Amino acid sequence: MSGGAPTVIDLRDLTRTFHLGDEDVHALSGVSLSIARGEYVAIIGPSGSGKSTLMNLIGCLDTPTTGTYSLDGEEVSRLDDDSLAEIRNRKIGFVFQSFNLLARATAVENVALPLLYAGVSRSVRRGRAKKALERVGLGDRLTHRPEQLSGGQRQRVAIARALVNDPALLLADEPTGALDQATGREIIGLFERLNGDGVTLVMVTHDHNLAARARRRVEIVDGKIAADVQKEGSIAGP
Ligand SMILES: Nc1ncnc2c1ncn2[C@@H]1O[C@H](COP(=O)(O)OP(=O)(O)OP(=O)(O)O)[C@@H](O)[C@H]1O
Ligand SMILES: [Mg+2]
Repeated sequence: MSGGAPTVIDLRDLTRTFHLGDEDVHALSGVSLSIARGEYVAIIGPSGSGKSTLMNLIGCLDTPTTGTYSLDGEEVSRLDDDSLAEIRNRKIGFVFQSFNLLARATAVENVALPLLYAGVSRSVRRGRAKKALERVGLGDRLTHRPEQLSGGQRQRVAIARALVNDPALLLADEPTGALDQATGREIIGLFERLNGDGVTLVMVTHDHNLAARARRRVEIVDGKIAADVQKEGSIAGP
């Protein structure tokens, strides 16, 4: 399906064990997964199966207990926090169920934030944040604060923020979980458009209708990959 496109994500025998008092929680036990540039992958599976744990590892928010992770050709599984933060900022956009926007900041300020961390000058930050907001259809909401935006618009701001660094990889953990169905579908439409533009997309969803639209579905059960299904041809519509 990837047609020889370069590998963006390469996970080998990944495990992640959490220690809670005397108990070990094996959130992931032996996950190997390879995702090529331009893919659109839906991660599905029951609650507690390890989906968010996996996304946090892929997003360099966490490191594995054992196993290796190569991101865009760079081995990242043993890096320290500062190096991970730097890679995150450069290569990854992350969208969460709860938007995670700064309440007192405008849409432009929220979207520009990753550029501030990257040391980009103020005027360039503003210009690029504005472009990213236009890309998600919010060119007319630049100075609105989150409370002045609808849920779907807030998620669009979060997506613009995830895109502002032109990341190799866009990750979304239940991006439609806090939205009504129609708004959720709009957000998925936006993701599909971005993927059509070449953005590599990995998304966790509980919604099987949404998962069915992805070209590839990976099912996690009990911390392991239970199924990995490719769909031939283009994205299926309802
Ligand atoms: N920081 C942590 N400390 C201890 N255990 C954790 C931690 N994070 C996750 N777990 C455990 O790891 C397992 C996997 O959790 P995870 O959040 O990855 O599930 P999930 O598939 O995302 O579930 P959901 O669909 O409900 O979001 C669960 O048993 C959870 O309790
Ligand atoms: Mg989760």
